[in-house]
Amino acid sequence: MERTFVMVKPDGVLRGLVGEILARFERRGLKLVAGKLMQVTRELAEAHYAEHREKPFFGDLVAFITSGPVFAFVLEGPNAIGVVREMMGKTNPKEAAPGTIRGDFALTIDKNVIHGSDSPESAAREIALWFGEEALLSYDRPV
Ligand code: CMP
Repeated sequence: MERTFVMVKPDGVLRGLVGEILARFERRGLKLVAGKLMQVTRELAEAHYAEHREKPFFGDLVAFITSGPVFAFVLEGPNAIGVVREMMGKTNPKEAAPGTIRGDFALTIDKNVIHGSDSPESAAREIALWFGEEALLSYDRPV
């Protein structure tokens, strides 16, 4: 069983895509174990994207992610990290296949609607940063 951190970015929230995106993951069978609509602080944005600190787009990325509400959540299930990444599609929507979230709802890399953890290490770090273990619910989901 694996857990992954997912965030619908401000472009997705403002366009009313939270329900549609969550529904795709729920229908696939992934279990929602935490979720919150929130305004991201500069401090949290910089910590979340710390690995991109030296990249030329870092300033714009932090400005964008703090520009409006995000919906952050944690999903649990077998191979949750890979399943979510597959369902999101390639980071650059230009290369994302139709049927994926970015392939269906996004056109450019700076406004690519959604973020998901890219490895078990990232998932552990991001879940701790955004929620903490104590915020995750444990319950049975009949499939
Ligand atoms: P995300 O999966 O949230 O992780 C880092 C984000 O940086 C990425 O999605 C993109 O939305 C954003 N980004 C903006 N510009 C670029 C770029 N030129 N290359 C890669 N990522 C970029």
